[in-house]
Amino acid sequence: MTDFAPRLAGRTALITGASRGIGLAIARRFVAEGARVVITARKPELLAEAAAAFPEGTVLAVAGKSDDPDHQAQVLDTIAAEYGQLDILVNNAGINPVYGPLVDLDLDAARRILEVNLLGSLAWVQQACRHPKLDLRGRGGSVINLSSVSAQTPAANIAFYGISKAALEQLTRSLSVELAPTVRVNAVAPAVVKTDFARALYEGREDAVSAAYPLGRLGTPEDVSGAVAFLASDDAGWVTGQVLNLDGGLLVAGGSA
Ligand SMILES: NC(=O)c1ccc[n+]([C@@H]2O[C@H](COP(=O)([O-])OP(=O)(O)OC[C@H]3O[C@@H](n4cnc5c(N)ncnc54)[C@H](OP(=O)(O)O)[C@@H]3O)[C@@H](O)[C@H]2O)c1
Repeated sequence: MTDFAPRLAGRTALITGASRGIGLAIARRFVAEGARVVITARKPELLAEAAAAFPEGTVLAVAGKSDDPDHQAQVLDTIAAEYGQLDILVNNAGINPVYGPLVDLDLDAARRILEVNLLGSLAWVQQACRHPKLDLRGRGGSVINLSSVSAQTPAANIAFYGISKAALEQLTRSLSVELAPTVRVNAVAPAVVKTDFARALYEGREDAVSAAYPLGRLGTPEDVSGAVAFLASDDAGWVTGQVLNLDGGLLVAGGSA
């Protein structure tokens, strides 16, 4: 019989936007699978509270905006000083500050969405590769980007968010080729997952919204964290450039976010 060790033992992971929701569930799953984890978010108190709930020595928290280059440098310096290595980067922080048709879209808000959802994610990869002590490309590792099913079908009132995620998916494919063979780059694309971020999409009408999902329910953060742990692990050692839909069957049944 084969013995299976914890899949992420000895690995160091950075998860952006992880004081709650999907990012926090990924942090919990990574720690359960043996990783040391660094989490970020903008609000320091909630981030510190989230980190304090983990076993001592498993999680470090650094507060800041994920698209801020100074914050990125501070986080990576902290990882280099505390752990000396970075193996897994999860670009989870994402925003959608607008709701409504594209023809009325505030272009400053659109730029902000691209800054965080797309350029911020690219910047983390760049900085992790350029960091002299971490050298993600030289060391090898795994990058996982948080996309959305709204990247694949026009989503009413949140279309530009979907456009930013579609660009993130193409960034995923492009980086997977550029950074091969040492770094694998993949994405997950969830449909509606029950977090603060998506609350407006289902609150008060969860049964009606769930009816479009062949599996009969909305997603949970744990539905996403297990898939991300798989992509981060050696079990996905031959998987790169892929977008894994996590949608309870929504897209295949012809639904949209
Ligand atoms: N929930 C869904 O239905 C769904 C579906 C598809 C894809 N996604 C994607 O999944 C990711 C996580 O979403 P979620 O539902 O878990 O959201 P959430 O519950 O709102 O959590 C977002 C986390 O990110 C942090 N954050 C937000 N903006 C940030 C920024 N600019 N810089 C650093 N941290 C930031 C938040 O803390 P602070 O507020 O303190 O910064 C919080 O910890 C996003 O990329 C989202 O687009 C979500």
